[in-house]
Amino acid sequence: MFTADEFANRVAAVTGGSEGLGFEFCRSLCELGCEVYFCARHAERGQEAARGLGARAHFFQADLTIPGQVEAFASFVREAAGRLDYLVNNAANDDRIKFDDLSVDECDRMWTLNLRSYLLMSKACIELLRKGAGKGIVNIGTTNYMFGLEPFTIYNATKSGIVGFTRSLARELGKEGIRVNMVSPGWIMTEKQLRKYVTAEDKEVLLREQSVKRLIEAKDVAPVVVFLLSSAAGAVSGQNLVVDGGRFFQ
Ligand SMILES: NC(=O)c1ccc[n+]([C@@H]2O[C@H](COP(=O)([O-])OP(=O)(O)OC[C@H]3O[C@@H](n4cnc5c(N)ncnc54)[C@H](OP(=O)(O)O)[C@@H]3O)[C@@H](O)[C@H]2O)c1
Repeated sequence: MFTADEFANRVAAVTGGSEGLGFEFCRSLCELGCEVYFCARHAERGQEAARGLGARAHFFQADLTIPGQVEAFASFVREAAGRLDYLVNNAANDDRIKFDDLSVDECDRMWTLNLRSYLLMSKACIELLRKGAGKGIVNIGTTNYMFGLEPFTIYNATKSGIVGFTRSLARELGKEGIRVNMVSPGWIMTEKQLRKYVTAEDKEVLLREQSVKRLIEAKDVAPVVVFLLSSAAGAVSGQNLVVDGGRFFQ
């Protein structure tokens, strides 16, 4: 059985940690005693998030759609910590784009963050993860592609790609003791989702369709990520764990 202190003084990297789910992952890992390195594009918001998280949180400004900036974020962790125990690939863009509006530019804008950055960040961190003791990667997916919701064709093409990536990487790295898993949240009531999208009717639908009769928040997802990173999940790899209040059954 794992005890919370196994995370003390370990090193974690989280992509997109300045708000939403990523911020909650950073908060949980900081509370457990990890040194947490996180990135985002907007410096002011990132620095404010780091201040809110405390001395264990370290912000790096990076746009992960640019390969050189993925490398720069990994180098920042390398120079500061010299190793990595946990990687959480989280940053993604959930823009709603009608299929009629699909263009090469839109495809590139979405896939370079939602899928390519997961691959490149994992690659950039692999030597650091080999040196760490935790040896855990968690990729953040979604249940959206499981329902095939609209208008999310590009988003869901990129997000479902994470399933294959997670499985194959789990096989490839398993012999070195590195586990790779995926967490697929349902609709999570983050500040941004509530501000931009969630209507009263949406909430009714969620409460009707979920087995758990309350709206799901980022703090419901973070412990599941922590579990998959922990030694309690030492025999779990290549899996995709849904956190949606029991709405979609795989
Ligand atoms: N919220 C939901 O309901 C929900 C449901 C299912 C799955 N998910 C998944 O959960 C993850 C987090 O979603 P969220 O809703 O918490 O997102 P969010 O609130 O939009 O936050 C995204 C984070 O990523 C950063 N980011 C965005 N573009 C970036 C880029 N190009 N390079 C580096 N960082 C970037 C953002 O900061 P900057 O803007 O400053 O870069 C921010 O810190 C995503 O993988 C999403 O697909 C979310």
